[in-house]
Amino acid sequence: MTVLDIPELALVALVGVSGSGKSTFARRHFAPSQVLSSDTFRGLVADDENDQSASADAFDALHHVAAIRLRRGLLTVVDATNLQPHARAGLIRVAREHDVLPVAIVLDVPEAVAWERTEARADRTHGRQVLNRMRRDLRQSYGRLAREGFRKVHVLRGVEEIDAAEIRYEKLF
Ligand code: GTP
Ligand code: MG
Repeated sequence: MTVLDIPELALVALVGVSGSGKSTFARRHFAPSQVLSSDTFRGLVADDENDQSASADAFDALHHVAAIRLRRGLLTVVDATNLQPHARAGLIRVAREHDVLPVAIVLDVPEAVAWERTEARADRTHGRQVLNRMRRDLRQSYGRLAREGFRKVHVLRGVEEIDAAEIRYEKLF
């Protein structure tokens, strides 16, 4: 079992390629209301969870809700790929503005696993090249997360380690 220590009040960014299991992990470990998913917010602002052209508005709304939750002292999990520095910078900013610790949980599965899952899903139509680009972004993310301001960076490698992970909450005081 891998224990992931997380402050009771944190902004948790899940980081991983499409098909790495972020939404599944979020459902398993957190209450639905704690999880802000980019898909959900695309649906809210565009009536279509897959409308990538709605991403800017969707993240705007997501950051806004995250900020309100943190102001109210509520743990918040962001279920998005969070593979690009600019995407993560927005989260770090929201966390800092509310004196909340930003935490990253990286889900890293073999490419074949992510691709197999993608192919099995009707709601994902991206090709292998897109997945490869996400994997490249993930590799580049490793060296950056701590420097960007994530106070804890938990890395889960492989399906078994992801399956065996448990969250443990640290008291703040
Ligand atoms: P995106 O939303 O596209 O970024 O993907 P994601 O990282 O949220 O992946 P998601 O949790 O949706 O998982 C993708 C698919 O893999 C789903 O059909 C899940 O049922 C399956 N899956 C996720 N985690 C596991 C796991 O631990 N074991 C198995 N067997 N399947 C899993
Ligand atoms: Mg998902």
